Amino acid sequence: MKGLILSGGKGTRLRPLTYTRAKQLVPVANKPVLFYGIEALAAAGIRTIGIVVGDTQAEIRAAVDDGSAWGVDVTYIEQDAPRGLAHAVLISEQFIGEDSFVVYLGDNLLAKGIVPFVDQFVTEQPAAQILLARVPEPQMFGVAELEDGRVKKLVEKPSKPKSDLALVGVYMFSREVFGAIREISPSLRNELEITDAIQKLIDRGLAVTPHIVDGWWKDTGKLEDLLEANRLILETMESRIDGDVDSDSHIDGNVVIESGASIIRSTVRGPVIIGARAKVSDAYVGPFTSIMNDVKILRSEVEHSIILEGSEISGLQGRVNDSLVGRNVKIFRRPVTPSAYQFMLGDNSKVGIR
Ligand code: G1P
Repeated sequence: MKGLILSGGKGTRLRPLTYTRAKQLVPVANKPVLFYGIEALAAAGIRTIGIVVGDTQAEIRAAVDDGSAWGVDVTYIEQDAPRGLAHAVLISEQFIGEDSFVVYLGDNLLAKGIVPFVDQFVTEQPAAQILLARVPEPQMFGVAELEDGRVKKLVEKPSKPKSDLALVGVYMFSREVFGAIREISPSLRNELEITDAIQKLIDRGLAVTPHIVDGWWKDTGKLEDLLEANRLILETMESRIDGDVDSDSHIDGNVVIESGASIIRSTVRGPVIIGARAKVSDAYVGPFTSIMNDVKILRSEVEHSIILEGSEISGLQGRVNDSLVGRNVKIFRRPVTPSAYQFMLGDNSKVGIR
């Protein structure tokens, strides 16, 4: 069995971050989302993995390399433009060869991995197997209708969903799927939808079986979901303090402090992760916060947020909450009058001020 991780796409819902970074490399608890996917495939015994890449391929290749860090063998497959999930699968036909395979969307995160999902497919040998989760807003996803334990109908982002069962971004296929993809046409968003290809398999009378997800699932394509995924992963972390904490600081709850980080006259209330060489001084870092390497939090309070490499937050009066701050960003209190806000923000930035 092979694995196929789809890592193209533009990540429009995470702009401006995704102007300069692949959405699959945005970190959750200081680890790129994509790495959790590779780990999930490796844990299911899959050693040969194709990663479909687009515009952001250089960054993804640099981060994952040949996959040896996970004991897997990675091949890169280039997609010329985001033409849909089914298109990404189609261009991987040669790589897949005669094997059955798992398709894993590179921005999806599953609490309990995919081992039971893969096992069910191996036992039942259907043409395709889909993973489903009950969600409050099914119209945002592909939606499945079930009947007698089989999948009866699949619709991509229906305006009037017939169930609350959303397609999770993990699929299993036999070679049958390639023929089905050749029969579909682009959707309204001008993409070849994998949902439509699976519907073709159903129409042909082939077996498409469902598997309901055990534990939580997050598609990290949006800020709220990314923060929630961060919260869920941080909750499972064990404390480890490799950095320096001075005697005036307080560390409560589960906290990871990487080596070279320093905590000075500050309170850190977990679950929190603080990256290598970060500096937290005269500050408060509250629950569900991930601070990446080389970040500085000075005379400020941060909670329930993700702060990426090299950024600096200093001298703020109010607490930073529910935020995602990109790399090398500076948020600071201006020392001089007039007391005005000064911004230099990228396109599609979002700033909330009281
Ligand atoms: C894609 C699929 C959709 C699925 C979702 C899961 O949506 O088209 O059926 O429910 O992934 O993350 P997209 O993220 O491309 O909008």
